[in-house]
Amino acid sequence: MKRIILVLTIICLMMNTQAQVQQSSQPPKQILVETDNTALVFSVGKNLKLYQIYLGEKLKNVEDYKKLPNQHEAYIPSGTDNLFEPAIKMLHNDGNPSLELLFADSKVTRDGNVVTTSILLRDPKYPVEVRLNFTSFGKENIIKTWTEIKHQEKKPVILSNFASSMLHLNADKYWLTQFHGDWAREMRLQESELTSGMKIIDSKLGTRANIFATPVFFLAKNKPADENTGEVIAGTLGWTGSFQLLFEIDNTNSLRIISGINPFASEYHLNPNENFVTPEFIFTFSNQGKGQASRNFHKWARNYGVLDGNGNRLTLLNNWETTFFDFDEKKLTDLIGDAKELGVDVFLLDDGWFGNKYPRKNDGAGLGDWQETTTKLPNGLGYLVEQSESKGVKFGIWIEPEMVNPKSELYEKHPDWILKLPNRDENYYRNQLVLDLTNPEVQDFVYKLVDDMLTKNPKIGFIKWDCNRMMTNTYSVYLKDNQSHVQIEYVRSFYKVMERLRAKYPHFPIMLCSGGGGRTDYGALKYFTEFWASDNTDPYERIFIQWGYSYFFPSITSCNHITSMGKQSLKYRTDVAMMGKMGYDIRVKEMTEDELKFSKQAVQNYNRLKDLIWKGDLYRLISPYEEERAVLMYVSEDKGKSILFSYALHPRSYGQFSPVRLMGLNPDKNYQITEINKMPGARSRFSAEGKTYSGDYLMKIGLSMPNNNDLTSAVIEIAETK
Ligand code: GLA
Repeated sequence: MKRIILVLTIICLMMNTQAQVQQSSQPPKQILVETDNTALVFSVGKNLKLYQIYLGEKLKNVEDYKKLPNQHEAYIPSGTDNLFEPAIKMLHNDGNPSLELLFADSKVTRDGNVVTTSILLRDPKYPVEVRLNFTSFGKENIIKTWTEIKHQEKKPVILSNFASSMLHLNADKYWLTQFHGDWAREMRLQESELTSGMKIIDSKLGTRANIFATPVFFLAKNKPADENTGEVIAGTLGWTGSFQLLFEIDNTNSLRIISGINPFASEYHLNPNENFVTPEFIFTFSNQGKGQASRNFHKWARNYGVLDGNGNRLTLLNNWETTFFDFDEKKLTDLIGDAKELGVDVFLLDDGWFGNKYPRKNDGAGLGDWQETTTKLPNGLGYLVEQSESKGVKFGIWIEPEMVNPKSELYEKHPDWILKLPNRDENYYRNQLVLDLTNPEVQDFVYKLVDDMLTKNPKIGFIKWDCNRMMTNTYSVYLKDNQSHVQIEYVRSFYKVMERLRAKYPHFPIMLCSGGGGRTDYGALKYFTEFWASDNTDPYERIFIQWGYSYFFPSITSCNHITSMGKQSLKYRTDVAMMGKMGYDIRVKEMTEDELKFSKQAVQNYNRLKDLIWKGDLYRLISPYEEERAVLMYVSEDKGKSILFSYALHPRSYGQFSPVRLMGLNPDKNYQITEINKMPGARSRFSAEGKTYSGDYLMKIGLSMPNNNDLTSAVIEIAETK
């Protein structure tokens, strides 16, 4: 017996060489979820309920947490004594609508910077288990939390609320920043003071998280959220479907934040022993305002949240805004030549290359029939791939695999593969319908589309994956009696397909697009290298859109193209695109000689500076929401290099802007200032051009920007001198 125990112990130890696990089923006094700066603290009451007693800046002395009262039950169930919005609501198979959750067990797994705390709660009367998981990323100051729900009743139970997370805050006042919009109007910032009762930010779109509201928020305590001061929580849900972020101030002025899949139309019949795993809610606490919160998110995203977050990205020339559906082999071959001329890495062929019985001449036909249109592309994709290869450019391709036009062979062949109500008219959005991805045959179809394409043309180097509509008039033939599972199963199925693809193509670059920025969430970004931020590429509008994304997503993920939308100078358009992942969608042949020269130089500048832009610390210095200009900068980790982007919006004539104080530099270092991205022959009007200043000077006195007039811009390199 002793031997067996010894062997088992050794096996356990071997299994945990990397990660150390500590388990406790004795009710601990406190459970601490900590990052370098933040603590989320729970305690177990005498009644065995789990309480959240603290969320905020870490206290120096752990003993001090013990002085805090058991004020808020951590994950509040419905049907017992709760009087406000619950985290979880369950109907047992005997018709009993109540749940009580008592502490059963807790476990901590440490793996260097990453610590996962898992707290098991059980109902004393029913065989129901709820596991609350918290992964803390120490250095990044990010906490990721999700919940697992399981039971062993004889028949399924019905879950009608299933929060990923419930957090409690205490303050006198709460200010909520949300990001709303519509197609081509993504990420508009709005801030308001919360009043008693509930405020919900949500979406009910099914196939994507956002179009009208993005699943991100700031919650500031006591005063509106500021860029560099004050206590804020920044949170987001990693779910590529309908989400809900709910804020409720109760009778004692406490705030509960409940986040998760939107319970809307999604009553879930949970089978015995099935583990319902919620998506992850990811959040950070900052006591230095939104700026620090964003930097926390960016670091975490690059290290853990985004596929190849610290890797390379490809610059590209896209043909969408230059040709739309109107192209042939000759036009595309010329564009491949233009990509080469500009010096970008990829030529990306957008929508309109497929369909034969119903050729894709516009968005009314062909979606679902993924064969090259022979009249347009007689030599197929292979020829274009070869053309690109021969010019030293990679070939990229647009697909929208989850969708179908009624005018398509796919629609004719597989009507049962489509989400639509059996007894009502089909409801179109962009002339298309959604495929029923919950059906494994459809999952295979989508997987095979990509796999076959990459097998046939292994030199394809980039994919843009689109999703141009949401669910309406939805019914799944495959899910039969479980229609209320469609929304959840769809997203799970999307992830299943991506898991399969990523198993075979782990690092292949794929841009996520959803009719502009409809799929900008960390659930999807595990599988995608970047996202298309908006179909609105007018650089004036774009400053606000990109500014909005910058709060939660690192610049390496946000694709910005230089196009002909908007009447601003090419320099302005280029400077705006350069603050993130730069690309082109413009008629290169129509550029003047100077413009082409400028653009080629800009691509070279970008290649030299992209690592700093993608991986540097972002400081938003002047917000376009506050002044008629926007200024931001990225600083390298060692503070040796920095790049600053300055954009004037519509300042009044003869307007004066005061100097901009820089941030994030080393006060003891000296930096040389150089304006780059200048039009050929343009003289710099920059008083600081070529001069050297100490970091101290730059951060306390600052620099007067050279661009004060309507829609002008400047890009400034700040490099340490030794
Ligand atoms: C969506 C995308 C665009 C483009 C078109 C093609 O609208 O956002 O970038 O790819 O589809 O139809």
